[in-house]
Amino acid sequence: MRQRISFDQNWAFHLGDKDGAQALDFDVSAWSPVHTPHDWSISGPFDPEAPSGGGGGYLPGGIGWYQKTISLDEADLERWTAVEFDGVYKNCDAWINGQHLGFHPYGYTSFSYDLSPYLRAGENVLALRVDNSQQPDARWYSGSGIYRHTWLVMTDPLHVAHWGTTVTAPFVSDELAQVCVRTRLRNAGAQERLCRLRTSIKDAAGQEVAFDETRHPIAAGQEYETVKFIKVRQPRRWDVDQPYLYTVHSEVYEGEAVVDAYDTPFGNRTIKFHADRGFLINGRQVKINGVCLHHDCGCVGAAVPERVWERRLEILQAMGCNGIRTSHYPPAPEFLDLCDRMGFLVMDEAFDEWKQGKFDYGYHDIFDEWAVADLQSMIRRDRNHPSIVIWSVGNEIPEQSLPEGAQILKKLVDVAHQEDPTRPATSGCDNIAAHIPATLEFLEGLDVVGYNYAGRWEERREKYYSLDHHQFPHWKMIGTENISIPGVRGAYSLEPQGWWGAYPSQSITAEQLWRFTRTNDYVAGDFMWTGIDYLGETQWPHKSASFGVIDLCGFPKDGYYFFQSQWTIKPMLHLFPHWNWEGQEGRVLPVLCFTNCDSVELFLNGKSFGVKSYVFPMRGLDVTKGWGEQDFRRRQHPTTGDLHLAWDVPYEPGTLRAVGMKDGEVACVQEIATAGEPARLELSADRQRLRTGGEEVVHLTVRVLDEAGRFCPNAQNLIEFKVEGAGRLIGVDNGDPASHEPFQASQRSAFHGMCLGIVQAGDEVGQIQVQVDSESLTGASLVVEVKEDGN
Ligand code: GAL
Repeated sequence: MRQRISFDQNWAFHLGDKDGAQALDFDVSAWSPVHTPHDWSISGPFDPEAPSGGGGGYLPGGIGWYQKTISLDEADLERWTAVEFDGVYKNCDAWINGQHLGFHPYGYTSFSYDLSPYLRAGENVLALRVDNSQQPDARWYSGSGIYRHTWLVMTDPLHVAHWGTTVTAPFVSDELAQVCVRTRLRNAGAQERLCRLRTSIKDAAGQEVAFDETRHPIAAGQEYETVKFIKVRQPRRWDVDQPYLYTVHSEVYEGEAVVDAYDTPFGNRTIKFHADRGFLINGRQVKINGVCLHHDCGCVGAAVPERVWERRLEILQAMGCNGIRTSHYPPAPEFLDLCDRMGFLVMDEAFDEWKQGKFDYGYHDIFDEWAVADLQSMIRRDRNHPSIVIWSVGNEIPEQSLPEGAQILKKLVDVAHQEDPTRPATSGCDNIAAHIPATLEFLEGLDVVGYNYAGRWEERREKYYSLDHHQFPHWKMIGTENISIPGVRGAYSLEPQGWWGAYPSQSITAEQLWRFTRTNDYVAGDFMWTGIDYLGETQWPHKSASFGVIDLCGFPKDGYYFFQSQWTIKPMLHLFPHWNWEGQEGRVLPVLCFTNCDSVELFLNGKSFGVKSYVFPMRGLDVTKGWGEQDFRRRQHPTTGDLHLAWDVPYEPGTLRAVGMKDGEVACVQEIATAGEPARLELSADRQRLRTGGEEVVHLTVRVLDEAGRFCPNAQNLIEFKVEGAGRLIGVDNGDPASHEPFQASQRSAFHGMCLGIVQAGDEVGQIQVQVDSESLTGASLVVEVKEDGN
């Protein structure tokens, strides 16, 4: 039977090059023990002279070696064995027992090697040389090393091949789903074998709902592909609000013995991009309210525990986000599993460069040799994920405007169609109406035209996609990338700063674009740049980019609440800025609010500054009711046509209070009070219990409060984390783009009153005791339980 064993534990690691370290008897006793995922760059330091530059967040690259032994007995040698790497950054050479297995340059595609031919009873040595020394190599932080999971697969020589199943549902109705399962079977043995393939479909509870069985003789060393159509009655759909997953369970029998088994989760859903109706899932029009994301998660760098992503996706989902663009490369496989389980619509992207380079050592160096293989690899690995609705073959590719661009595009789109005829392909184009525009041939070569910054050019500032929609009515369109509401969490200025405007006007661009996207069905949706801040793409003294509506810690910024006000219906309001403006008494300050309530009334120290509401969308009469039955309580209150509310309030210390009304009732209240001096810490955790196994983490949020428990919005106190027992602190951060404090430390300054610690559970059952302290403040503590089952 198949075993897919985590291969993450107990690697030996050496930072720097070592001649001949692939040799079987190479002495690694002085190397450091590490577990993968492992990113050596994130340990720092941040150095303004680092060759990675602002692109790489001023963190080091370099060369690293990994080594690991595999002990096998004679019986193991009867089996077929492979090693799988979900991602190694980058230029990875691998050897087993001194024998070169291969070279894999791209840092974001997964790869595997058959080990069987080289294995022997006793100790076997796997060695990897990882070379990220050529810098600068990316416009963002890449991380370095075996930064994703590793696996050892052991099974019978007769087995389902690597990424050997392709599951689609060519027909889905309420009564019936016709599920098509292609299975590539492989006989890696020396004899012909007669294989019985039993393919069953299980529902989410693990109950078999349908099956099919076939027999195939497979010659030694050969592969064989079967295609089965299996009917599922009354199928449950996979959708954004109910992401129901089935599993295809493929069992390989020889006679009565099961020799291999392979699971493929999948979802029954139909998708369609439409030139007039935008995007439809299961026949229902859904606007893709998406975000672009890079792969790092702040203080843990590129080696991201799954729960760190899960928390981030939960925060995005609470904003009303339903779409993710994996800019600008394929993500970790478990990231897509999360999207499947949580109901996100994903644009899976392959490249940021083709032949024309953007950075010295970018993908252009290997495009000719590797692009087709890498694109195939992305699609073969990812095509069973119901969350993925579109492939992207590139981002802001300069070739879009060059005569040869359309030809290269065609080659890539053909590969995408060949590997997966069920999904369209796009590319994020940033030059559609530029001075030297994308060629028509290029744009016509896309299944869905991807717009980066649809409102960037002159009259398009107001007309966005409409000019092209009228000229090319057959085009399907999506905003592959558009501005979010960028900025630094908790920082308020009345003057424009750097990339962004003063806080009262920061949201205008996003408001106008959203108004257009919302009201024009033909725009399938949008992926904002970005959902979350990321390391790199910056200039010293900053080491991270602040384009997100969520900071590096996962703490929402004000802009987050703009999208929440537009994308969710549970009553909410968000008031800003803070109310600590000592020395500004009497100055008129704009107080802003994002809300989905019908109206909001603002008070300062009990005095009303008036009731306001949005005029957009205009409310017509309720057509189901007569004149006398209309509910006129929901009157329009005076305000602008903006999608935020604003009051001009002369500053005086005290309490701002916003009262949101919905259907004539108070639906939300928020207060912001002028805080006194920092006096104590508040500590909270996103989990009370963790499971053992070395994977799970708890996020600890620290907030600085004054004596009366009011949040101190400017506090910078240095916070000490003391973590004892069954877990260890793996990272600290505060979201400050200009902080050069190390991520791997036991202390962190608060930034605008907050900071974060991430603690990982190990194999030990027990308690994690957390204590946070700061000089002259009252500390706080909590306990997290670590149990075998996490309950
Ligand atoms: C886009 C690009 C992104 C990022 C962003 C910054 O043009 O696609 O990767 O660089 O600009 O504004």
